[in-house]
Amino acid sequence: MEPKKKIVLSGMRPTGELHLGHLVGALENWVKLQDEYQTFYMVADWHAISTAYEDKLDLPNLKLEIIADWLACGIDPQRSAIFIQSAVKEHSELHLLLSMITPLAWVERNPSFKETIQQLSSKNISTYGFLGYPVLQAADILLYLADLVPVGIDQLPHLELAREIVRRFNYLYSDTFVEPQPLLTNTPKLSGIDKRKMSKSYGNCINLSETEQSLKTKINSMITDPARIKREDKGHPEVCTVFEYHSCFNKSEVSQISEDCRAAKIGCVQCKKNLFEKLNDLITPIRVKRSELLAKPDDLKDIINDGNKKARNAASATMEIVRKNMNL
Ligand code: TRP
Ligand code: SF4
Repeated sequence: MEPKKKIVLSGMRPTGELHLGHLVGALENWVKLQDEYQTFYMVADWHAISTAYEDKLDLPNLKLEIIADWLACGIDPQRSAIFIQSAVKEHSELHLLLSMITPLAWVERNPSFKETIQQLSSKNISTYGFLGYPVLQAADILLYLADLVPVGIDQLPHLELAREIVRRFNYLYSDTFVEPQPLLTNTPKLSGIDKRKMSKSYGNCINLSETEQSLKTKINSMITDPARIKREDKGHPEVCTVFEYHSCFNKSEVSQISEDCRAAKIGCVQCKKNLFEKLNDLITPIRVKRSELLAKPDDLKDIINDGNKKARNAASATMEIVRKNMNL
């Protein structure tokens, strides 16, 4: 018999179009993990509500769009369970049960709780639900007995809390859950076109749905080396956003570009044109696939229903054990 594959689970909140930062920071890794692991990829719509309950998000569309993005990037519904959190009600049951055993101090000391309340100061998210955000996230992970959770550094405190909850549950009742390990991607955070962190709220993203024209416009507006005013000025690639993109998306030419920039052998216009070609080759098949998928929403819904079923099977098996071990 083949050894049982380890289980990977990750999730994203459906808050808008995905961009290149999502591709290099998460999705490329998610795609690779499918070769080796049993993978569960979840659209965290309840988590999206926790920070945007006043915004009337168009969740039905946001969910279809994010899943079209995932599929277009290579998430394979044959190998991965692609599902919606709110379609698997076991998440809410386990969240409730875990909330009974999670000490208040553990959620109150969570650094992202206070930080996010400050960052999103225009919103009122001092809510009971938002305090429980990481407990719900723990439920997401534990329901599938996930061994590994690919996440960014910002999510590490949430994962640590999930591990603490596992230890407490297993101690109070009997060994039930697996302690999940984070899987960090080693790609550094991608900058936006204005050199700040790529983020929808800064309006500096390159989206996966970018057209040729909009891609060109965005690359042309990217910040280069501000000290390079004339074509003959020698450049400093280490301060240039265009160069950062070459290092990420054009690895075979990057050392030549660095040399040529420093020696003023290439100009920024040419350098941007080169980057445009590389990014356009990367994005075009994604954009095309994405719009083909979105043109057939019924097929997309079939894929989601299928993923929801796979997730429900796994989740309901875990909940039977949980209820039994808690003597419910
Ligand atoms: N909190 C995660 C984020 O904002 C999304 C998420 C929800 C998640 N549930 C999860 C990630 C479970 C990993 C595992 O990015
Ligand atoms: Fe940046 Fe390229 Fe211009 Fe050098 S030549 S400053 S790397 S855009």
